[in-house]
Amino acid sequence: MSFTPEIFSANASFDSELSIAGVSAGTLIRDFGSPLFVVDEADFKSRAFSFKTALDKHFGIHAGNVYYASKAFLNKEIARWIESVGIGIDVASGGELAVALAVNFPAERIQVHGNNKSEAEIEKAVLAGVGAIVVDSFHEIERVARVAASHKKIQKVFIRVTPGIEAHTHEFIATAHEDVKFGFSLASGAAWKAIEEIESEKSLKLVGLHSHIGSQIFDAAGFGVAAERVIGLLAKFRDHYSDELPELDLGGGFGVAYLPGEESVNADAVLGELASIVTRECGNVGIRVPHISIEPGRAIAGPTTTTLYTVGTTKNIELDGGDTRRYIAVDGGFTDNMRPALYDAKYHAVLANRISTSHNVSSRIVGKHCESGDIIIREIELPEDIAPGDILAVPVTGAYGRQMASNYNHLTRPAVIAVIDGNARIIVRRETEADLLALDI
Ligand code: LLP
Repeated sequence: MSFTPEIFSANASFDSELSIAGVSAGTLIRDFGSPLFVVDEADFKSRAFSFKTALDKHFGIHAGNVYYASKAFLNKEIARWIESVGIGIDVASGGELAVALAVNFPAERIQVHGNNKSEAEIEKAVLAGVGAIVVDSFHEIERVARVAASHKKIQKVFIRVTPGIEAHTHEFIATAHEDVKFGFSLASGAAWKAIEEIESEKSLKLVGLHSHIGSQIFDAAGFGVAAERVIGLLAKFRDHYSDELPELDLGGGFGVAYLPGEESVNADAVLGELASIVTRECGNVGIRVPHISIEPGRAIAGPTTTTLYTVGTTKNIELDGGDTRRYIAVDGGFTDNMRPALYDAKYHAVLANRISTSHNVSSRIVGKHCESGDIIIREIELPEDIAPGDILAVPVTGAYGRQMASNYNHLTRPAVIAVIDGNARIIVRRETEADLLALDI
């Protein structure tokens, strides 16, 4: 039996079949169709809350805000959950902002990101009264200043600083080395120049610095180096302007376990380490500890969600050397989880609708797209008797799963189901062919 509770959501269990918050995989597929993203609601809220608790515990009066990085997984209901937990939200486009505003998310708890915000997006954010816009380029400083001035507003802004860190993660999800599209580089002096420009704009109020070093970071050392460098800039600000910036946002990127045996970053432990680094560095340069904020996305959403697929076909392929590989094709694919194709990400799966006593065979889980690269799990041991109609569960698909889904091959994107205390309900309905056709003229 390969059920590994540590990588399933907190309220998942396996008796005669997989259940999530008391609802069995078979019931979920019967009632809502297949495939499905199943979110463990209580686990989602509790993970979000745990970052707030840990931030408050370790930073005390210096605790800033937890902004949920909504790019990981966003829909109206998730925005309501984030609101109910009392934390903020980070939106990275006009679309994400629209979701937050649609549920009346308190504007002052919204932080707006993006490396190429359009004038329309900026205007929408300014008019909504968002807490802050994180500016990412000189063009944007000018744009935000102009939009704010045209509405006679003073917009609070952060500067996204690129501290020049080579984070140990996949190249596509590392964001703080020099040769990257994000932010203002510290080393080249661009970040300081951005400070000067903002300070000269009457319609902008600089409230802090921001740095995000990348995703799937397991070692607090990376955050530490970033914090140290950005705190150096805070000190330079104080020296020059005889004033201190109130907030430092250290971004997200807290790593999670995807495979049995891996360990997620512990919010309490990593924030404890960050607190000592930040306190020490501020002490070294003689500034007050600013309010420290963070932006976890994956660490909140990822582990809460399981994808359920139904097996459609299986096939045994003879490999050179006489081995056999069994292909299991499911009713989704790399359009509902593009992380394996894009980042070579690894996932685990279990047979979810029954217990099998047959022995395991080397298997590959593939989707239904017209591409050989449509692989969800390249290599996994699964029971030999898996057959059409069986349900496979892939855990830890909450972050960048449904949110990065596409309609390639005109597949309809799966529904999202929230489960709590034995009840399941649709929070995002399954796309229909009518939805797909609705855009075509
Ligand atoms: N803050 C900023 C400014 C970000 O750019 C990101 C992620 C986050 C916070 C949240 O990072 P997290 O805590 O989720 O690691 N699609 C990729 C991840 C891209 C992340 C982009 N920015 C993946 O599936 O791994």
